[in-house]
Amino acid sequence: MKPLVIVTRKLPLAVEKRMQELFNVKLNDDDHPFTKDELLCAVQEATVLVPTVTDKIEAEIINAAGTNFKMIANFGVGINHVDLASARARMITVTNTPGVLTEDTAEMAFSLMLGIIRRVNEGERMLRAGKWQGWAPTDMHGTRLFGKKIGIIGMGRIGQALAKRAKAFGMGIHYHNRNPIHQDLEAEFGATYWQSLDQMITQMDVISLNCPYTDETHHLMNNHRLGLMQKHAYLINTARGEVIDEKILIEKLLSGEIRGAGLDVYENEPQVKKDFLTLENVVLAPHMGSATTEARQAMGDKVIINVKTFLDGHSPRDRVIS
Ligand code: DGY
Repeated sequence: MKPLVIVTRKLPLAVEKRMQELFNVKLNDDDHPFTKDELLCAVQEATVLVPTVTDKIEAEIINAAGTNFKMIANFGVGINHVDLASARARMITVTNTPGVLTEDTAEMAFSLMLGIIRRVNEGERMLRAGKWQGWAPTDMHGTRLFGKKIGIIGMGRIGQALAKRAKAFGMGIHYHNRNPIHQDLEAEFGATYWQSLDQMITQMDVISLNCPYTDETHHLMNNHRLGLMQKHAYLINTARGEVIDEKILIEKLLSGEIRGAGLDVYENEPQVKKDFLTLENVVLAPHMGSATTEARQAMGDKVIINVKTFLDGHSPRDRVIS
Protein backbone atom coordinates (compact mmCIF):
# COMPACT_ATOMS: atom_id res chain seq x y z
CA MET A 1 0.00 0.00 0.00
CA LYS A 2 1.37 3.44 -1.00
CA PRO A 3 1.69 6.10 1.74
CA LEU A 4 -1.47 8.17 2.16
CA VAL A 5 -1.45 11.84 1.09
CA ILE A 6 -4.36 13.92 2.45
CA VAL A 7 -5.17 17.23 0.74
CA THR A 8 -7.22 19.63 2.87
CA ARG A 9 -8.74 21.83 0.12
CA LYS A 10 -9.90 21.41 -3.45
CA LEU A 11 -6.96 22.03 -5.82
CA PRO A 12 -6.97 22.79 -9.58
CA LEU A 13 -8.33 19.80 -11.51
CA ALA A 14 -5.09 18.99 -13.36
CA VAL A 15 -3.21 19.00 -10.05
CA GLU A 16 -5.69 16.62 -8.43
CA LYS A 17 -5.61 14.33 -11.50
CA ARG A 18 -1.82 14.11 -11.41
CA MET A 19 -1.88 13.47 -7.68
CA GLN A 20 -4.31 10.61 -8.23
CA GLU A 21 -1.94 9.11 -10.82
CA LEU A 22 1.09 9.37 -8.56
CA PHE A 23 -0.13 8.94 -5.00
CA ASN A 24 -2.62 7.22 -2.77
CA VAL A 25 -4.44 10.49 -2.25
CA LYS A 26 -7.53 11.57 -0.33
CA LEU A 27 -9.01 14.74 -1.84
CA ASN A 28 -11.53 17.19 -0.46
CA ASP A 29 -14.23 17.20 -3.13
CA ASP A 30 -16.60 19.67 -1.49
CA ASP A 31 -13.74 22.05 -0.52
CA HIS A 32 -14.96 22.69 3.03
CA PRO A 33 -12.20 24.04 5.29
CA PHE A 34 -11.05 21.24 7.61
CA THR A 35 -12.16 21.44 11.23
CA LYS A 36 -9.64 20.86 14.00
CA ASP A 37 -11.02 17.32 14.45
CA GLU A 38 -10.56 16.61 10.77
CA LEU A 39 -6.97 17.82 10.94
CA LEU A 40 -6.35 15.64 14.00
CA CYS A 41 -7.73 12.60 12.15
CA ALA A 42 -5.76 13.44 9.01
CA VAL A 43 -2.36 13.54 10.75
CA GLN A 44 -3.15 10.26 12.51
CA GLU A 45 -4.02 8.56 9.23
CA ALA A 46 -1.69 10.10 6.63
CA THR A 47 2.01 10.11 5.82
CA VAL A 48 1.76 13.46 4.04
CA LEU A 49 -0.63 16.36 4.66
CA VAL A 50 -1.13 19.02 1.99
CA PRO A 51 -2.64 22.00 3.87
CA THR A 52 -3.23 25.61 2.91
CA VAL A 53 -3.26 28.91 4.75
CA THR A 54 -6.79 28.09 5.99
CA ASP A 55 -5.49 25.24 8.18
CA LYS A 56 -3.99 26.06 11.56
CA ILE A 57 -1.43 23.31 12.04
CA GLU A 58 -0.76 24.03 15.70
CA ALA A 59 1.41 22.10 18.16
CA GLU A 60 -1.63 20.14 19.33
CA ILE A 61 -2.20 18.81 15.80
CA ILE A 62 1.44 17.96 15.21
CA ASN A 63 1.81 16.27 18.58
CA ALA A 64 -1.21 14.08 17.82
CA ALA A 65 0.31 12.84 14.56
CA GLY A 66 0.62 9.10 14.00
CA THR A 67 4.00 7.39 13.68
CA ASN A 68 3.61 7.27 9.89
CA PHE A 69 3.19 11.02 9.61
CA LYS A 70 6.29 12.47 7.98
CA MET A 71 5.56 15.51 5.86
CA ILE A 72 3.59 18.76 5.62
CA ALA A 73 3.66 19.91 1.97
CA ASN A 74 2.02 23.32 2.14
CA PHE A 75 0.11 24.66 -0.88
CA GLY A 76 1.33 28.27 -0.56
CA VAL A 77 4.49 30.15 0.27
CA GLY A 78 3.56 31.68 3.66
CA ILE A 79 4.08 29.12 6.37
CA ASN A 80 3.08 31.04 9.50
CA HIS A 81 0.03 28.78 10.02
CA VAL A 82 2.30 25.79 10.69
CA ASP A 83 4.00 25.40 14.08
CA LEU A 84 7.49 24.85 12.73
CA ALA A 85 9.09 24.29 16.15
CA SER A 86 6.75 21.36 16.84
CA ALA A 87 7.30 19.96 13.35
CA ARG A 88 11.06 20.20 13.83
CA ALA A 89 10.83 18.45 17.20
CA ARG A 90 8.90 15.59 15.56
CA MET A 91 11.33 15.53 12.60
CA ILE A 92 8.51 16.27 10.17
CA THR A 93 9.59 17.70 6.82
CA VAL A 94 7.81 20.93 5.86
CA THR A 95 7.79 22.37 2.34
CA ASN A 96 6.16 25.38 0.70
CA THR A 97 5.76 26.78 -2.85
CA PRO A 98 8.07 29.78 -3.29
CA GLY A 99 8.82 31.60 -6.54
CA VAL A 100 5.68 30.71 -8.49
CA LEU A 101 3.28 33.34 -7.14
CA THR A 102 5.71 36.23 -7.06
CA GLU A 103 4.46 38.15 -10.12
CA ASP A 104 0.84 37.45 -9.21
CA THR A 105 1.15 38.82 -5.68
CA ALA A 106 3.07 41.87 -6.91
CA GLU A 107 0.27 42.45 -9.45
CA MET A 108 -2.27 42.29 -6.62
CA ALA A 109 -0.31 44.82 -4.54
CA PHE A 110 -0.23 47.08 -7.58
CA SER A 111 -3.95 46.63 -8.25
CA LEU A 112 -4.76 47.60 -4.67
CA MET A 113 -2.49 50.59 -4.98
CA LEU A 114 -4.13 51.82 -8.17
CA GLY A 115 -7.56 50.94 -6.82
CA ILE A 116 -7.21 53.05 -3.69
CA ILE A 117 -4.98 55.88 -4.93
CA ARG A 118 -6.88 56.47 -8.19
CA ARG A 119 -10.21 55.71 -6.43
CA VAL A 120 -11.20 53.10 -9.02
CA ASN A 121 -13.28 50.97 -6.66
CA GLU A 122 -14.95 53.99 -5.06
CA GLY A 123 -15.81 55.34 -8.51
CA GLU A 124 -17.29 52.01 -9.55
CA ARG A 125 -19.41 51.85 -6.38
CA MET A 126 -20.74 55.33 -7.10
CA LEU A 127 -21.49 54.48 -10.72
CA ARG A 128 -23.20 51.17 -9.92
CA ALA A 129 -25.30 52.95 -7.30
CA GLY A 130 -26.65 55.16 -10.10
CA LYS A 131 -25.12 58.28 -8.53
CA TRP A 132 -22.86 59.38 -11.39
CA GLN A 133 -23.94 62.73 -12.81
CA GLY A 134 -21.40 62.76 -15.65
CA TRP A 135 -17.86 64.12 -16.04
CA ALA A 136 -16.95 67.09 -13.88
CA PRO A 137 -13.63 68.96 -13.48
CA THR A 138 -13.69 68.70 -9.71
CA ASP A 139 -15.01 65.15 -9.41
CA MET A 140 -13.24 62.04 -8.13
CA HIS A 141 -9.74 63.44 -7.85
CA GLY A 142 -7.24 60.81 -6.90
CA THR A 143 -3.48 61.20 -6.62
CA ARG A 144 -0.91 60.73 -9.37
CA LEU A 145 1.42 57.76 -8.75
CA PHE A 146 4.11 59.13 -11.04
CA GLY A 147 6.81 60.83 -8.98
CA LYS A 148 5.59 59.48 -5.64
CA LYS A 149 7.72 57.46 -3.21
CA ILE A 150 6.92 53.87 -2.35
CA GLY A 151 8.46 52.28 0.75
CA ILE A 152 8.56 48.50 0.43
CA ILE A 153 8.85 46.61 3.70
CA GLY A 154 10.39 43.23 2.86
CA MET A 155 12.48 43.24 -0.30
CA GLY A 156 12.33 39.53 -1.13
CA ARG A 157 11.00 38.12 -4.39
CA ILE A 158 7.59 39.80 -4.15
CA GLY A 159 8.98 43.10 -2.89
CA GLN A 160 11.38 43.19 -5.84
CA ALA A 161 8.65 42.30 -8.35
CA LEU A 162 6.62 45.19 -6.93
CA ALA A 163 9.64 47.52 -7.15
CA LYS A 164 10.00 46.69 -10.86
CA ARG A 165 6.38 47.66 -11.48
CA ALA A 166 6.55 50.79 -9.36
CA LYS A 167 9.68 51.92 -11.20
CA ALA A 168 7.88 51.47 -14.53
CA PHE A 169 5.18 53.80 -13.18
CA GLY A 170 7.77 56.47 -12.40
CA MET A 171 7.74 56.00 -8.64
CA GLY A 172 10.79 56.42 -6.41
CA ILE A 173 11.72 53.07 -4.85
CA HIS A 174 12.65 52.87 -1.17
CA TYR A 175 12.87 49.76 0.96
CA HIS A 176 13.50 48.36 4.38
CA ASN A 177 14.82 44.85 4.74
CA ARG A 178 16.92 42.94 7.24
CA ASN A 179 19.84 43.38 4.81
CA PRO A 180 20.28 45.54 1.71
CA ILE A 181 19.75 43.71 -1.58
CA HIS A 182 22.65 43.23 -4.01
CA GLN A 183 23.98 46.56 -5.27
CA ASP A 184 23.32 45.58 -8.92
CA LEU A 185 19.66 45.06 -8.10
CA GLU A 186 19.54 48.25 -6.10
CA ALA A 187 20.96 50.07 -9.14
CA GLU A 188 18.45 48.37 -11.47
CA PHE A 189 15.53 49.62 -9.37
CA GLY A 190 17.23 52.90 -8.45
CA ALA A 191 16.27 51.84 -4.94
CA THR A 192 17.24 53.46 -1.65
CA TYR A 193 17.83 51.22 1.37
CA TRP A 194 16.64 52.46 4.75
CA GLN A 195 18.11 50.73 7.74
CA SER A 196 15.67 52.60 9.94
CA LEU A 197 12.12 51.49 9.19
CA ASP A 198 10.70 54.34 11.26
CA GLN A 199 12.63 56.96 9.35
CA MET A 200 11.58 55.49 6.01
CA ILE A 201 7.90 55.48 6.97
CA THR A 202 7.93 59.21 7.74
CA GLN A 203 9.04 60.05 4.18
CA MET A 204 6.85 57.77 2.03
CA ASP A 205 3.68 58.38 0.03
CA VAL A 206 2.87 54.66 -0.11
CA ILE A 207 3.95 51.87 2.24
CA SER A 208 3.67 48.30 0.98
CA LEU A 209 3.97 45.29 3.29
CA ASN A 210 5.75 42.40 1.61
CA CYS A 211 7.42 40.68 4.54
CA PRO A 212 6.66 37.26 6.00
CA TYR A 213 4.58 37.07 9.17
CA THR A 214 6.75 36.04 12.13
CA ASP A 215 6.93 36.88 15.84
CA GLU A 216 9.10 39.84 14.83
CA THR A 217 6.61 41.22 12.30
CA HIS A 218 3.49 40.75 14.47
CA HIS A 219 1.79 44.19 14.48
CA LEU A 220 4.85 45.71 12.83
CA MET A 221 2.49 48.49 11.77
CA ASN A 222 1.42 49.40 15.30
CA ASN A 223 0.19 52.65 16.79
CA HIS A 224 3.69 54.12 16.75
CA ARG A 225 4.50 53.27 13.11
CA LEU A 226 1.03 53.99 11.72
CA GLY A 227 1.40 57.30 13.52
CA LEU A 228 4.62 58.00 11.62
CA MET A 229 2.89 57.78 8.24
CA GLN A 230 2.22 61.04 6.45
CA LYS A 231 -1.37 62.22 6.43
CA HIS A 232 -1.60 61.82 2.66
CA ALA A 233 0.04 58.36 2.63
CA TYR A 234 -1.47 54.97 1.77
CA LEU A 235 -0.85 51.51 3.24
CA ILE A 236 -0.94 48.37 1.07
CA ASN A 237 -0.91 44.86 2.55
CA THR A 238 -0.54 41.65 0.56
CA ALA A 239 1.57 39.92 3.25
CA ARG A 240 -0.45 38.78 6.27
CA GLY A 241 -3.16 40.59 8.19
CA GLU A 242 -1.36 40.15 11.50
CA VAL A 243 1.45 42.46 10.35
CA ILE A 244 -0.95 45.38 10.99
CA ASP A 245 -2.74 46.29 14.19
CA GLU A 246 -6.09 46.56 12.39
CA LYS A 247 -7.90 48.27 15.26
CA ILE A 248 -5.41 51.14 15.16
CA LEU A 249 -5.45 51.27 11.36
CA ILE A 250 -9.22 51.71 11.42
CA GLU A 251 -8.89 54.56 13.95
CA LYS A 252 -6.31 56.31 11.76
CA LEU A 253 -8.37 55.85 8.59
CA LEU A 254 -11.47 57.18 10.32
CA SER A 255 -9.67 60.21 11.74
CA GLY A 256 -7.95 60.98 8.44
CA GLU A 257 -4.45 60.50 9.90
CA ILE A 258 -3.79 58.13 6.98
CA ARG A 259 -5.34 58.74 3.56
CA GLY A 260 -6.21 55.18 2.63
CA ALA A 261 -5.38 51.48 2.58
CA GLY A 262 -5.51 48.57 0.16
CA LEU A 263 -5.83 45.23 1.92
CA ASP A 264 -5.77 41.67 0.63
CA VAL A 265 -5.21 39.96 3.99
CA TYR A 266 -6.76 40.25 7.46
CA GLU A 267 -5.99 39.41 11.06
CA ASN A 268 -8.81 36.87 11.50
CA GLU A 269 -9.63 35.56 8.04
CA PRO A 270 -12.22 35.07 6.75
CA GLN A 271 -13.66 37.59 9.22
CA VAL A 272 -13.14 41.19 8.20
CA LYS A 273 -13.68 43.97 10.74
CA LYS A 274 -17.03 45.68 10.15
CA ASP A 275 -15.49 49.17 10.01
CA PHE A 276 -13.42 48.21 6.98
CA LEU A 277 -16.63 47.37 5.13
CA THR A 278 -18.07 50.84 5.53
CA LEU A 279 -14.95 52.96 5.03
CA GLU A 280 -14.73 54.59 1.59
CA ASN A 281 -10.96 55.04 1.82
CA VAL A 282 -10.16 51.32 1.82
CA VAL A 283 -9.97 48.82 -1.01
CA LEU A 284 -10.58 45.28 0.16
CA ALA A 285 -9.78 42.00 -1.59
CA PRO A 286 -10.42 38.50 -0.26
CA HIS A 287 -6.84 37.16 0.06
CA MET A 288 -6.37 36.67 -3.67
CA GLY A 289 -2.72 37.60 -4.24
CA SER A 290 -1.90 34.20 -5.73
CA ALA A 291 -5.34 33.68 -7.26
CA THR A 292 -4.45 33.31 -10.93
CA THR A 293 -4.89 30.13 -12.94
CA GLU A 294 -1.16 30.16 -13.69
CA ALA A 295 0.00 30.58 -10.09
CA ARG A 296 -2.40 28.05 -8.57
CA GLN A 297 -1.42 25.44 -11.17
CA ALA A 298 2.29 26.11 -10.55
CA MET A 299 1.76 25.93 -6.78
CA GLY A 300 0.13 22.52 -7.29
CA ASP A 301 3.02 21.39 -9.49
CA LYS A 302 5.45 22.39 -6.76
CA VAL A 303 3.49 20.47 -4.14
CA ILE A 304 3.53 17.37 -6.38
CA ILE A 305 7.28 17.62 -6.97
CA ASN A 306 7.94 18.17 -3.26
CA VAL A 307 5.81 15.19 -2.21
CA LYS A 308 7.14 12.89 -4.95
CA THR A 309 10.76 13.81 -4.17
CA PHE A 310 10.17 13.16 -0.49
CA LEU A 311 8.36 9.86 -0.99
CA ASP A 312 11.14 8.74 -3.34
CA GLY A 313 13.57 9.20 -0.45
CA HIS A 314 15.14 12.51 -1.44
CA SER A 315 15.22 15.94 0.10
CA PRO A 316 12.64 18.26 -1.52
CA ARG A 317 14.02 21.50 -2.84
CA ASP A 318 11.38 23.69 -1.18
CA ARG A 319 11.84 22.34 2.32
CA VAL A 320 11.40 24.92 5.04
CA ILE A 321 12.58 22.41 7.63
CA SER A 322 13.54 18.74 7.34
C1 DGY B 1 0.66 32.24 0.17
O1 DGY B 1 1.09 31.48 -0.70
O2 DGY B 1 1.30 32.52 1.18
C2 DGY B 1 -0.69 32.81 -0.04
O3 DGY B 1 -0.91 33.88 0.81
C3 DGY B 1 -1.73 31.74 0.22
O4 DGY B 1 -1.35 31.02 1.31
